[in-house]
Amino acid sequence: MREPRIRILFTVLYAGDEYTIQTFPGEYRDLKTLIEDKLYPEDFGQCGGMGRCATCMVEISSPDGYSGALRRNEATTLSRMSPKSGNIRLSCQVEIDSELANTLVSVLETI
Ligand code: FES
Repeated sequence: MREPRIRILFTVLYAGDEYTIQTFPGEYRDLKTLIEDKLYPEDFGQCGGMGRCATCMVEISSPDGYSGALRRNEATTLSRMSPKSGNIRLSCQVEIDSELANTLVSVLETI
């Protein structure tokens, strides 16, 4: 018997508009890939997900607190950008999993 797919619903705020996003674990490699596919932000993710350019920065807010772990060289890259919030992440380093459910993901201007 097949196990039911876990649906993940969250909201993305981009250029002043809110988008309700539905996805499933494993549907996208990472949050950057999902945002590119759904919203086509200009100049987003210029290093292709290497965690070096910081053009894919997002702020993830959740009433329950988002606790996805930093990956690869994310901490080093973010330290260069001096983020004003501990909730700022490189979307290319954020996995699509149940931690994203019910969050608000704001796509940040990086220029
Ligand atoms: S795509 Fe370059 S840091 Fe994420």
